[in-house]
Amino acid sequence: DSIHVFAPATSANFICGYDILGLALEEPGDEVKLTRVNTPGVVIKKITGDEGLLPTDSKKNTVGACIEMVLRHLNREDLGIEIELNKKMPIGSGLGSSAASTIAGLFAINQLLGEPLTRQELLPFALKGEELACGYGHADNVAPSLLGGITLIKSYHPLEVINLPTPKELCCSIIFPHVEVPTRAARQILRTQIELKNAVHQWGNIAGLISGLFLEDYGLISRSLEDKLIEPIRSILIPEFDQMKEIAKELGALGFGISGSGPSVVAFTKGLDKAKEITEALQLHLKHKQIGSNGYSSRI
Ligand code: HSE
Repeated sequence: DSIHVFAPATSANFICGYDILGLALEEPGDEVKLTRVNTPGVVIKKITGDEGLLPTDSKKNTVGACIEMVLRHLNREDLGIEIELNKKMPIGSGLGSSAASTIAGLFAINQLLGEPLTRQELLPFALKGEELACGYGHADNVAPSLLGGITLIKSYHPLEVINLPTPKELCCSIIFPHVEVPTRAARQILRTQIELKNAVHQWGNIAGLISGLFLEDYGLISRSLEDKLIEPIRSILIPEFDQMKEIAKELGALGFGISGSGPSVVAFTKGLDKAKEITEALQLHLKHKQIGSNGYSSRI
């Protein structure tokens, strides 16, 4: 008995929706293989592609810990599960790396057990995994990785997640500059209080963006892709942020900002060719500045 599952990378926040909006990419993503064995307990057999960065103790690893939680919840701790994790994207990049592994693991264990839980019921376990990974159980990576497309976290208590429509031609270019920005640290530097006039501006953008998705109005989407609250603080951690924004906008991006907690940046485009053009231009710019990067162009 074994199962092999892929879960996609995600880009959280969608520029203006900190902790409430996220979207799934076509690629990259992570793969998890689970095998049933006779000895009870959850063990990590192998991790590849993580450059030795992830814990191999199943209680400390988000995939192992989440699978253990599901087995405990279902009273199936008698089962023996071996985990193989193949990381196919950079860790700590702002692409929902921990979320993709967690979701692949949760989806796999649920399938292996004959689907006792719905996808929505798997989400609270995934939030625990995010809490383990970065100190806070944010849902804007795990929800789109599990449900696909664009998701809105309408509320956390109780957890209510809504799938939003994806305009057909909406694509994105994502650049991961090779610097380290752990999510935990990128959350700690944020202010906990905001000014009312900035809040008004921000919720106008969020409402405009969501209306734009329903109306497939790329102009409205573009005018709404702006972040008054988080970007001014976090962008300081990202090399060449302002320059990359200028290049992306000049090339016709609908919007540009930080992907999740960074250091990846994201440019949204109408059409995949435009996304590829922007990915190439931004990577070339970073190369001139002697900064290595990974680049992805993806449909949503
Ligand atoms: N919403 C989270 C944050 C996403 O911005 O910290 C982390 O990937």
